[in-house]
Amino acid sequence: MKPRALPGAIALASLLTFGASGALAQDIFTGAFPQKTGEEVYKGICQGCHMPDAKGAIGAGAYPALAGDTKLQGSAYPAMVIIRGQKAMPSFGSNLGDDQIAGVVNYIRSNFGNHYTDKITPEDVKALRPAKPPSEE
Ligand code: HEC
Repeated sequence: MKPRALPGAIALASLLTFGASGALAQDIFTGAFPQKTGEEVYKGICQGCHMPDAKGAIGAGAYPALAGDTKLQGSAYPAMVIIRGQKAMPSFGSNLGDDQIAGVVNYIRSNFGNHYTDKITPEDVKALRPAKPPSEE
């Protein structure tokens, strides 16, 4: 018997029920995000927690500001946080490709009052990925 299109129906139901946040959770658990540029990735995924102005938020949790964040001085740190997750931030290593991670790192490091001009490349991101998925460590 062929499997039915149940996941699609669930995705649609959660989209209708929970709106944008339901769609986000669905994407996290089912695989790749479609956004291509760093800006699209930020708007589609990151701003839900870090806010559209990247100034962070305190509510159900504390979401740090990325605007004026001196920890973005090096590009490896934000890339690692995105790949592996950190405390209350989920990991996106398996849902975002090297190009998407490089794009969003370059985006947050050159917007929101951040003016770091050096760019991280998809090859750099690839080199930062753990040999084993974080879940198996
Ligand atoms: C579900 C909410 C959530 C989402 C979605 C999310 N983050 Fe985070 N992020 C957090 C939290 C919470 C922390 C603080 C983690 C900690 O306590 O160390 C954090 C920390 C960070 C940090 C480290 C900041 C610092 O000063 O140490 C960076 C960089 C970052 N996030 C970038 C991103 C990017 C880029 C995306 C989109 C790909 C993203 N985050 C998506 C919740 C989120």
